[in-house]
Amino acid sequence: MEQSHVDQRTRFVVLASGTGTLLQSLLDATADPGFPAQIVAVGADVPDAKALDRAQKSGVPTFVRMVSEYPLRTDWDSALTDAIDEWNPDWVFCAGFMRILGPSTLARFAGRIINTHPALLPAFPGAHAVRDALAYGVRVTGCTVHLVDEGVDTGPIIAQAPVHVDASDDEAGLHERIKMAERSLVVGTMAAIASRGCVIDGRRAYIP
Ligand code: GRF
Repeated sequence: MEQSHVDQRTRFVVLASGTGTLLQSLLDATADPGFPAQIVAVGADVPDAKALDRAQKSGVPTFVRMVSEYPLRTDWDSALTDAIDEWNPDWVFCAGFMRILGPSTLARFAGRIINTHPALLPAFPGAHAVRDALAYGVRVTGCTVHLVDEGVDTGPIIAQAPVHVDASDDEAGLHERIKMAERSLVVGTMAAIASRGCVIDGRRAYIP
């Protein structure tokens, strides 16, 4: 009798809003059956996110929950929670998801949602991290993978990578260099969490 293969690897739902180049790195990594994580679905808050095309090309199911489709923000939050939950993920990875998650999503996946941010937190939280770092004049910035809590980019830090700022950098060029570091960071962090989990001890989060 033919045996169907069940993928036993740690299950991630990835949320993205934009071009999805970080998602692409995760899709490429998870395409190797020896990689310890799988992406079971990709969710977006906008229907034209290029990230959705990338997922579809890799045969990964997608879903879209737009804030504007719901009368209240809390309705969107509940709908997003249910859409994620349908895939029974072990972890949710926000990889360029440009919306603040609501209380329902945070509660359902408490301690199991991670985000990547293009700055060395706690410096430069928010939607314009690269611009803010350049404007401040820092010589070193980078990227951070952290647990998501109810604040904006405030959850315990899991991993970081530094990137030097050049005198000639503009926002787009610096962001591209940060994303080069970020792609390795997200893949490495996904693999480590999938294999060993993540321990949270107050402000400190570490992969044992
Ligand atoms: C990343 O720098 C991420 O940290 C930020 O948005 C960017 C996403 O890039 N929130 P892409 O869409 O994956 O290329």
